[in-house]
Amino acid sequence: MTASHRQQSNRERILFCYVLGLLWNTGTGKIHYSVPEEMEKGSLVGDIAKDIGLKPRELSERGARIVSGGKKQHFALNVRSGSLVTVDRIDREELCPGSLKCLLNVEILLEDKVKIYGLEVEVTDINDNAPRFQENEVDIEISEQATLGTKCRLPNAWDLDMGMNGLQSYQLSPNPHFSLLMQSKADGAKYPELVLERALDREEEPVHHLILTASDGGDPVRSGTVRVRVIVLDANDNAPVFTQSVYSVSIPENVPVGTWLLTVNATDPDEGINGEVTYFWNIHNKAKQMFELDSHSGRISTVGNLNHEESGFYEMEVQAKDNAGLFARANVLVTVVDVNDNAPEVTIASLITSVPEGSPSGTVIALLNVHDQDSGENGLVTCSIPSNRPFKLEKNYGNYYSLVTNTALDREQVSEYNITVTATDFGAPPLSTDTLITLHVADVNDNPPAFSQTSYSAYIRENNPRGASIYSVTASDPDSEKNAQITYTIANDIFQEDPLSSYVSINSETGVLYALRSFDYEKFRDLQLRVTATDSGEPPLNNSVFLTLFILDQNDNSPEILYPTFPTDGSRGVELAPRSAEPGYLVTKVVAVDGDSGQNAWLFYRLLKATEPGLFSVACITVRSGLLGHSSTKTPSSRILWWQSQTKASHPSPPL
Ligand SMILES: *[C@@H]1O[C@H](CO)[C@@H](O)[C@H](O)[C@H]1NC(C)=O
Ligand SMILES: *[C@@H]1O[C@H](CO)[C@@H](O)[C@H](O)[C@H]1NC(C)=O
Repeated sequence: MTASHRQQSNRERILFCYVLGLLWNTGTGKIHYSVPEEMEKGSLVGDIAKDIGLKPRELSERGARIVSGGKKQHFALNVRSGSLVTVDRIDREELCPGSLKCLLNVEILLEDKVKIYGLEVEVTDINDNAPRFQENEVDIEISEQATLGTKCRLPNAWDLDMGMNGLQSYQLSPNPHFSLLMQSKADGAKYPELVLERALDREEEPVHHLILTASDGGDPVRSGTVRVRVIVLDANDNAPVFTQSVYSVSIPENVPVGTWLLTVNATDPDEGINGEVTYFWNIHNKAKQMFELDSHSGRISTVGNLNHEESGFYEMEVQAKDNAGLFARANVLVTVVDVNDNAPEVTIASLITSVPEGSPSGTVIALLNVHDQDSGENGLVTCSIPSNRPFKLEKNYGNYYSLVTNTALDREQVSEYNITVTATDFGAPPLSTDTLITLHVADVNDNPPAFSQTSYSAYIRENNPRGASIYSVTASDPDSEKNAQITYTIANDIFQEDPLSSYVSINSETGVLYALRSFDYEKFRDLQLRVTATDSGEPPLNNSVFLTLFILDQNDNSPEILYPTFPTDGSRGVELAPRSAEPGYLVTKVVAVDGDSGQNAWLFYRLLKATEPGLFSVACITVRSGLLGHSSTKTPSSRILWWQSQTKASHPSPPL
């Protein structure tokens, strides 16, 4: 395009870097101008004066004006310069929407000659409009399982400008999943489509943000954009996934039923109902009786009483399923921790209920087995017995303990032992079990009978009846039964040429001694016996003791006058005394003896008969014979004195 006429307004802004107008005579005889849209107000459109053959000044002189006919005029006459100028900005797209050519007709009237000139002003397009989309943002939904090549409509853009200034092309922001395809309608109109190039995964990227740009061909290029949100629709294409492949928990065995253990959790990345997960056991019956799984929450809790001793560990499989039957597995490990709930158990593997006394130290009494159902420290057991007993516990093989004697036992001291064996575990608090072992100490004949005295003395009056019980000896034997059964015997010595057994006998069971004779003190005064006590043990043990039997005197002998001797010829005995005998003259001695002893042998003398009483007297003296053991039987004891007494004994006796 070239300007046929160019004129610069001297008073106005410089606007005309553009080609302003084009004048040519069309076949219609109209003057033709061309002006770009959007020019400043007052812009020159054409030099009217010149084109109708007038001087500029003549325009006003001849009353030139634009005939409006009531319509809005976009042009005005500048009568001073004789040119046609714009009266405001002209927007081609507003004036001639959708038209390829925008022609405005202007009629100019010269009033003086009433002449009309027709003008045609073509408003040419400039690229003043960018392509535009109806919305700023559009959403497109595609299933994540859509096949490659799937197409979706994209929004169209419009550009009010024409030709190259109009919409020329679309571009899509770079994206690995989608490409842009231009399609044409039957009428040749083009529209953009989105093509799926790479598979979608909602779980990976649920929304793709794209920008569609529409560009025109102007210079400079104008463009418009729309944000395209591609929303990936869910398909149940994901299996649930457990948050852990193994869930472990340790729990004391004594937790109450209903205790929560853990919660398994499987998540399904799918949406809504596709992502709903239910849980199932895949376990054997025994564990099912112990644990409950909530199919919705995944909570696992106990429904039975756990027992570490029965089962200390459970390994269970839990499954999570979604609505499409897709599932996942996880393992649940439950460790049942021991609690010290079992006391030790003591089993007597072997027991001697009776042990002979005197058995050597170390004799095994019992073999005990200790066991505790608990584990670890709770199952470790020690055994003990009271320390003041003559026994000890020795650790034997494994969990066995031997109860052995610590010293030789003496039945005579303690015949029965109650031994309490205490088994204690190491739990906190510890539990213990007492086991009572009763041990009898069997008798051994280790004690001889014992007499209570080292020797015995017994006294018996002479002239005792035969068979009289004299005395009783008793020996004791601390042993028991036969070992304590005592038999008494007397050693059968010879006494005064007779065996002792003819004097005395003993009841072998009671130890009572009997006189077999009547004893005569005057024959013997004592008798020594050896009494033996013998038990019935095997072999028997015995002990002897001496018993002295003293015969006690009885007054069983009359005194016997030894002098003067009683005449045997029937005559009387005669004693002579001189006439001149002084008082106190010893007439004769009377000597008498008594077989008895002691007081029984004390003699008293007295004149029985005298012709002349008063002439003679008996010096009544006694001679105490010696005590037992002193022979006095043959010793003269007294004298008859004439008024006077004297003793033969060395020590004087008091006169009577
Ligand atoms: C399950 O795990 C997911 C992911 O770790 C978490 O967001 C959700 O809260 C968990 N559910 C439960 C019930 O703990
Ligand atoms: C031992 O225990 C038994 C039974 O408890 C009891 O009868 C007996 O008298 C006890 N013996 C001793 C020596 O304590």
